[in-house]
Amino acid sequence: MMENQGVSLSQVSMHDLDDLASTAADVLAQVRDAMVEPHPRKVAPTFSSAAIADLCGVDKTQVKYLAQKHNLPNGQKIEGSKAKEYSLEDAIAWVMTIGKRPSRPEDKSGKVISVCNYKGGVAKTSTTVAIAQALTLRGLKVLVIDCDGQGTATQLIGISPEQDVEIEQTIMPYIHGDEPDLRYAVQSSYWHNLSVIPASSGLLAAEFAIPAKAMSQRGFRFWEMLKTGIAPLRKDFDLILIDTSPSLSHLTVNAMIAADGLLMPCPPDALDFASSVQFWGIFSELVDGLPDAKEKRYDFISIIYTKVQANEISRLVKTWMKQAYGTHINGIEIPDSTAARTASAQLKTIYDLSKPDGSAEAYRRYKDPLDRLADYVLDQLALGWRQ
Ligand SMILES: Nc1ncnc2c1ncn2[C@@H]1O[C@H](COP(=O)(O)OP(=O)(O)OP(=O)(O)O)[C@@H](O)[C@H]1O
Ligand SMILES: [Mg+2]
Repeated sequence: MMENQGVSLSQVSMHDLDDLASTAADVLAQVRDAMVEPHPRKVAPTFSSAAIADLCGVDKTQVKYLAQKHNLPNGQKIEGSKAKEYSLEDAIAWVMTIGKRPSRPEDKSGKVISVCNYKGGVAKTSTTVAIAQALTLRGLKVLVIDCDGQGTATQLIGISPEQDVEIEQTIMPYIHGDEPDLRYAVQSSYWHNLSVIPASSGLLAAEFAIPAKAMSQRGFRFWEMLKTGIAPLRKDFDLILIDTSPSLSHLTVNAMIAADGLLMPCPPDALDFASSVQFWGIFSELVDGLPDAKEKRYDFISIIYTKVQANEISRLVKTWMKQAYGTHINGIEIPDSTAARTASAQLKTIYDLSKPDGSAEAYRRYKDPLDRLADYVLDQLALGWRQ
């Protein structure tokens, strides 16, 4: 037998682990400070006249005339150029006046959509935040509730889960029964008309607090906690998007029960597909065991292909998924994309970029399907509001 001369077992004490955790947190804080400019918050993108025209579905040549006719923001001159740029707030004002998108009738409540899949890294959070932004650009008031202790959605919305978020600012006070609903936790963000209820690692405590409450209070409907907490927010927001963790935790089940619609991002990969099948199986078994939950109706359940690679395996798995999920596959394919990776390496989404950061073609190939997904979601909301 070979001897491992000179190699000794390097044990890690819990003290070492503490050091590791705090060094890692320091490094992350420095990286974040370097990336999220200007310190410490993110800034919203600006829009060209062409982008404004595109958002409103009009020709670029009409922008000047429409600005006068409707007394709309006329943009700021860019120094040394004839071109103008518009702020995000200006862009939204344009969309709301000129855009012909459906809007929520006054007597209707906002809708709740949960983004779920218990497989990790399938683009739940990227999709949640991207369509939240895209839907504000279609005139909606949107709230993102981060129900994942990793706080990735919180981070993408410009708030550092470990540095900027106190546990009192998350859903936890409501979960512990210290607040009657979730109104206290809504924060505005750097992005106009996009609010957030942030998360931090303290959300893990929900997985103990919820079952403990269920054990101690007979008849307590633990699966409806989020649904009840969200209810008063439905009049303030057109859309409430819930980002969930990669698990079928108590919080995820709550998010799924609170929702009017479910979106499941799923890469067309054999293992991801198998895992998604398991997810629906476990969820439906769970629901079978909850009184009344079986009566629940969703406006829609949609599976979106994410991180799609242009190869034979991906094409084959898509045929299996179509067979398995039928009309729940909405046909939108978000490609595996360097534009996605580049944006998230800067803690951004594609909508944070005023112009392509790299190849214009890669930017468009990634952004176009996200725009179509936002349009699809808006159509689903409009159908629901019409009922
Ligand atoms: N279309 C894409 N192409 C390439 N990479 C992508 C794409 N979408 C997301 N990613 C990358 O995949 C990683 C996981 O994305 P994201 O955090 O959105 O997934 P998630 O499902 O929310 O993960 P988790 O399960 O950990 O919550 C990120 O690094 C992100 O940049
Ligand atoms: Mg996530």
